[in-house]
Amino acid sequence: MKFLKLLLLLFVFQIHAQQGGMWIPSLLEGMNEKEMKSLGMKMSVKDIYETNKSSLKDAVPHFNGGCTSEVISPKGLLLTNHHCGYGQIQSHSSNEHDYLADGFWAFKMEDELPNKDLVVTFIVKIEDVTQQVLEGVNALSNEAEKQKKIQENISTLSNSFPKEAWQENKIRTFYDGNQYLLFVTETFQDVRLVGAPPTSIGKFGSDTDNWVWPRHTGDFSLFRIYADKNNRPAAYSKDNVPYTPKHFLPISLDGIAEDDFTMVFGYPGKTNEYLPSVAINQIANELNPARIEIRDQALKVADGFMRKDNAIKIQYASKYASTANYWKKWQGETLGIKKSNAIAVKKEAEKKFQENVIKANKQKEYGTLLSDFEKYYNEIAPYALARDYFNETVLRNTELLSVAFKFYQLEQMLSTKGEQAFTDRKNNLYNGLGDFYKDFSPIVDEKVFEQLLVLYTTKSPKQFLPSSLNNIDVHQLSKNIYSNSKLTSYVGAKELLTGDTKTILSKINQDPAFVLVKSMADSFLKEVAPSYDALNLKITALQRNYMKAQLELNTKESRIFPDANSTLRVTYGKVKGYEPRDGVYYNPVTYLDGVMEKYIPGDYEFDVSSKLIELIKNKDYGNYAEKGKMPVCFIGTNHTTGGNSGSPALDAYGNLIGLNFDRVWEGTMSDIYYDPSLCRNIMVDIRYVLFVIDKYANAQNLIEELQLVHPKKNKKNKK
Ligand code: ARG
Ligand code: ASP
Repeated sequence: MKFLKLLLLLFVFQIHAQQGGMWIPSLLEGMNEKEMKSLGMKMSVKDIYETNKSSLKDAVPHFNGGCTSEVISPKGLLLTNHHCGYGQIQSHSSNEHDYLADGFWAFKMEDELPNKDLVVTFIVKIEDVTQQVLEGVNALSNEAEKQKKIQENISTLSNSFPKEAWQENKIRTFYDGNQYLLFVTETFQDVRLVGAPPTSIGKFGSDTDNWVWPRHTGDFSLFRIYADKNNRPAAYSKDNVPYTPKHFLPISLDGIAEDDFTMVFGYPGKTNEYLPSVAINQIANELNPARIEIRDQALKVADGFMRKDNAIKIQYASKYASTANYWKKWQGETLGIKKSNAIAVKKEAEKKFQENVIKANKQKEYGTLLSDFEKYYNEIAPYALARDYFNETVLRNTELLSVAFKFYQLEQMLSTKGEQAFTDRKNNLYNGLGDFYKDFSPIVDEKVFEQLLVLYTTKSPKQFLPSSLNNIDVHQLSKNIYSNSKLTSYVGAKELLTGDTKTILSKINQDPAFVLVKSMADSFLKEVAPSYDALNLKITALQRNYMKAQLELNTKESRIFPDANSTLRVTYGKVKGYEPRDGVYYNPVTYLDGVMEKYIPGDYEFDVSSKLIELIKNKDYGNYAEKGKMPVCFIGTNHTTGGNSGSPALDAYGNLIGLNFDRVWEGTMSDIYYDPSLCRNIMVDIRYVLFVIDKYANAQNLIEELQLVHPKKNKKNKK
């Protein structure tokens, strides 16, 4: 409770509303309500989060743990991004029914498609349990023991906190271990695909436009939640019925204008807004450039093959998009950190912090924090770099090495967990191989291997290189491995896993890919990981203390919100354009005219379907256009991150106006440093979504389920 009061104080003193921040929905009343209203919000924060009656939070479930979604009809109709439903859309696709290329629409509920392993999770209730979780922790002096005690308290509390049988308790930390909240959740397992536009709409602009404004992507897809006859979560059954939500979002047809209030409600994954400058410097100038260079090589190789060979293009499309997503993000992030002078700004804040420590006479508790950060970040630097090289090269981008690493883990299993665990893991591995080899091309991978091993041997910290990689001819090595390893083919890999334990071990230890990975993994796990983990634990403890100090000391200037941790958050701001560089200003709204400007016939990123061209030509926009033009996307000052994809963008009254899906290039550093002049989130205008469902897909059955409203018109009528 004391902690809460402290936070309240921070806000009472706050004069200038900068933007930014991802706020806890149950704590808006003290912390944000005034600011939200000053920005134009017309509802009460109780309309956003309330446990005694339904509220907006009841319409916003986490979508499969990684994205956000929202309920938009009384029959459990669910809206999220196309890129969030991509896996499901792809899994139902085949040559005969290519739903990625052509789109998919269920015109009757019977046609909706069930999905294995797709869940959505609602938040029922949020409770502050900081006191219970930290019970008995301060008495301990050792960091590892503290963490152990915290874990014990968390598990006791999760088991004992009251909830219904079909619900779950989850406890998460906020402010780096200074606050703990418990979430009572409800997870639905029967979620069916209802609709998806073709890729030429849902992924228009693809990787070229990814992380970029101006944008013209209709990044949405539709699902439906099914429940048992009591409206409770149930595994898939044809007897399940559409879920009746506690709340669903009305949809505004009135559109947006610059400076309108907007709020984005969703599940941001992870941010690091309170790092010391030394850490930001390490990310921007050492780690990001290394990762970018590695992925740059891997992507170039794949792209070369994909452009020439359609089969390879299909095999690598999804992997390519996922690797390219963060490759591009890191470049934007490093640029943004430089452009916004994030390091200098943080350094200045650190100077002030140090002065405040002295003023408050807290040198004993906080006086060495910054110098300790400096020391540990310098110590961890080579380990962090080596870790990135290992992760990116072995675990992520060279597929032969990543599959060989699974065999390495299998071998480890025997010595750590015994024969039975070994056999279980072996069967698991064996069963998963088909999926892996379906999309594996040894020709592509050999080239990737060669490029990445050159980087690994010349640029990763020398002191941790295994002897197997000292003074070698990488070209020779790759030739040898790709012509002799059994792991280059499905048949070969299965062969390696056939026989008794001894035979398998002896076979894999003769395989050159396995032998190489073993030497790389051994040296990583012995020389790098333990030191990295030990230093990281120290840094984590420092970060917790630094957070505590900032909460205590920086009352007047700062605006302290907890870093994202995949829990439900509110972020708010205004519809706003921005000036990325001198003399250039970006409008906050795009229109379908822009789709035609970008149109490249036949191109895999910028093709436009003839049906859409026809609608544009005839300006056949139904009720959805604005002064004869069809809006497509818009941007705002809402502070979002990965995981916010699919989040509802709401107006001042809580009506749906858009669907969040990305951020602008110059502002992708917002995970580390939010600069209100550069950071913008990108949303699809909800009217474009409606236009595609209604006019493009002719799925009026879906439109009929929705509650379409006119908040702006109503206001005018009242006057
Ligand atoms: N950048 C967005 C996000 O991080 C969209 C990614 C999906 N689109 C793509 N072209 N890969 O998720
Ligand atoms: N595209 C991201 C997502 O999938 C959102 C972002 O990073 O802005 O969650």
